[in-house]
Amino acid sequence: MLREAAEAVSGLSFNSSTYILVFLPALLFQAALTIDVRRMMEDAAPILLLAVVAVFVATAVIGLALWPLAGVPLVVCLLLGSIVATTDPAAVVAIFRDIGAPARLVRLVEGESLLNDAAAIAIFYVLLEIITSGDEPDLLMGAWDLAMDLGGGTLLGIVAARLGVAMIPLLRGRRTAEVTLTLALPYLVFVSGDHFLGVSGVVAVAVSGLVFGAGSRSRLSPSGWAYLDAVWEQVAFLAGSLVFILAALMVPKLLGTVSLHDGLLLLVLVAAALVARALVLFLLLPPLTLLRLSAKISNSYKLVLTWGGLRGAVTLALALSVTEARGIGGEDQRIVTVLATGFVLFTLFVNGTTLRPVIKLLGLNRLSPLNKAIRNQVLALSLADVRDSVQQTAAEYEFPPTVARAVQRPYDVRIQEVTSAGSLEEQISDRDRIVLGLIALANRERQLVLEHHGLQTVAGDIIEALLRNAGEIYDGARTGGRIGYNRAARKILRLPKAFRFAYSLHRWTGVERPLARQVAKRFDKFLVRRLVLEELIRFNSRSLKPLLGVRVAELLGEVLTGRLDASTKALDALSLQYPEYAEALSQRFLRKLALRREMAHFESLFEDGLIGQELFEDLRRGVDARQKEAERRPKLDLKLDKVDLIAHVPLFNTLAPDELKRLARVLRSRLALPDQTFIRTGDRGTAMYFISSGAVEVVLPDRRIRLGRGDFFGEMALIDGGPRRADVVALTYCTLLELRSRDFQKFLKANPDISERIDEVAQERGVKRVA
Ligand code: CMP
Repeated sequence: MLREAAEAVSGLSFNSSTYILVFLPALLFQAALTIDVRRMMEDAAPILLLAVVAVFVATAVIGLALWPLAGVPLVVCLLLGSIVATTDPAAVVAIFRDIGAPARLVRLVEGESLLNDAAAIAIFYVLLEIITSGDEPDLLMGAWDLAMDLGGGTLLGIVAARLGVAMIPLLRGRRTAEVTLTLALPYLVFVSGDHFLGVSGVVAVAVSGLVFGAGSRSRLSPSGWAYLDAVWEQVAFLAGSLVFILAALMVPKLLGTVSLHDGLLLLVLVAAALVARALVLFLLLPPLTLLRLSAKISNSYKLVLTWGGLRGAVTLALALSVTEARGIGGEDQRIVTVLATGFVLFTLFVNGTTLRPVIKLLGLNRLSPLNKAIRNQVLALSLADVRDSVQQTAAEYEFPPTVARAVQRPYDVRIQEVTSAGSLEEQISDRDRIVLGLIALANRERQLVLEHHGLQTVAGDIIEALLRNAGEIYDGARTGGRIGYNRAARKILRLPKAFRFAYSLHRWTGVERPLARQVAKRFDKFLVRRLVLEELIRFNSRSLKPLLGVRVAELLGEVLTGRLDASTKALDALSLQYPEYAEALSQRFLRKLALRREMAHFESLFEDGLIGQELFEDLRRGVDARQKEAERRPKLDLKLDKVDLIAHVPLFNTLAPDELKRLARVLRSRLALPDQTFIRTGDRGTAMYFISSGAVEVVLPDRRIRLGRGDFFGEMALIDGGPRRADVVALTYCTLLELRSRDFQKFLKANPDISERIDEVAQERGVKRVA
């Protein structure tokens, strides 16, 4: 029966591309989807090295090692090399997670294996093309093909994924539609890349998975994302299993042809693959670490990475496709399939089964004293919690005390056991406990941001920025303790690139909208950040204090209040300049929260059967409509209207209406940001500024002079043509009117009264009159 089924399946006429078409997109897309691409970019250098360079090294080393012995042409040996150059990270990653390896290392392994799949498959294609076309191999042509494949594939992947992400809002949160979209994406990308555009489909699929994963995470609801993730895991599992089954069906056929010589070749292959991997890890990675491009990886981890380079479904799928490829036949084809399949089995049965013992041998699985102490402390606290709740429940239900005691006793014993080792405070230093606390805080921060995402009170891009920063904070705490934590936390205060771009755009073209949007986003970001920090402060005193002790909790509290102060300060600076907007934004936040609550109520009423389907749908539509309304970010008026700004400067009050009009033509409105150095000592003077709102400080060597609304600065350099005499730094958001040097003289001539006033002030400030 089983045999018949096997024969039926193996008799199906697949051609080589079927295997690749059906299985590879699913496997690659899923692997890419779950990788945090932004964090991966931080390790772009080692990942690219490990992935791309390692694949070339592996292909070359394996190909060259087998060539003298295998009795087939060099390209065929290289083809085999490229097939087995892909690594499957699942096993190593699972074990790394188990033993609590640094998250960065896990990312490294995942990123490497994804990109090396893409690179290896691209090389595989080029080599297969050379073999099947029967042409003389042309190295230059091959390299050019490969470069076009990789570059074009990357581009296609990015464009397609962006389109996919842009479509998500159109699906209005329907999960099945979201899943369908992502199921279609890799296959469309793959087919259009390979068959229509002539670029590497696999590379495009891998890149599209990365880009789609990064872009969609904050656009899908958290539950929507979890659903998508689960479905894809299942799909990839099925695809992987099917590949294994198909390969297994092939084994009996292959076994008939296997000779002792093949066994020898397999051993050579195993050794060459190990050598290639070790070469990269031990020779190429250290320079990167020296250049600070990569996290330091200890030798034991490198050994595990070498030994743990298992091969899986991707290698098998490629091997299967060779069995069906036209233009490669006979011994060439047999050697490739036998050795590739044999190698996969070898890594699974030998490396796979011995990986854990190897890790044990290297001592990587031992709980550090720190982790052991934490485990005891956490256990003690949770057990005490359970014991108390048993007592309470027993009292509530009026069970006799003997019953409660009998249940509690084992807990008492266990608490005794874990606390006998001593308390956390005795066992680990303050410093370690602080780091521990910071890591816990960073973890909690991530969760809190995600909770806000779940409440849909904040826009996706804001969540993304906050999540990314929470990740940086986590890594900062792990690697740099309190300093690293604070350094990473301060990153959010910096102006993002998009902000700087919008600012320059306004400066050079006067276009205000993008700048207003960026300022509004900043508002949003700090609003959420402040809420999260307040929740973190509560988390610290409620949950961390009992675990880490009063002293450490106090210190953590200080770190958090420092951050809270910085956020509050940034928020206050914005509210001071744009009070109505601040209020509108807070209102919007609350309104969205209220809508969520409203919907939750209706849902529970519906689930309890208290309201019918029709009424529920009706209510839902109402909430949806209002939600959409609330979704829109209120427009921020930067208050840079020139006429208004001019009206705010008393110096111009005496001007007649037509003079004002002329003035408006030569002046330009500008926005200064808090702490921005608007004028730098020693620069050439290109303009002077009238302050219409806000405050700046002139930084002189011995003192600082504060200037406010109606004052002006930057006039001295224009009058005497010398360099700027002082730094001028904005203290708040300021709206300014800019008078450029080329209009300066004309302006003075046309407005003698104002000119006199400017001269007077400049002389008081120390300028010498120029004749
Ligand atoms: P400028 O030298 O063009 O650039 C720096 C500006 O700081 C300068 O013009 C003045 O506008 C201002 N400034 C310099 N010295 C003083 C001062 N003593 N009091 C007030 N403002 C000053």
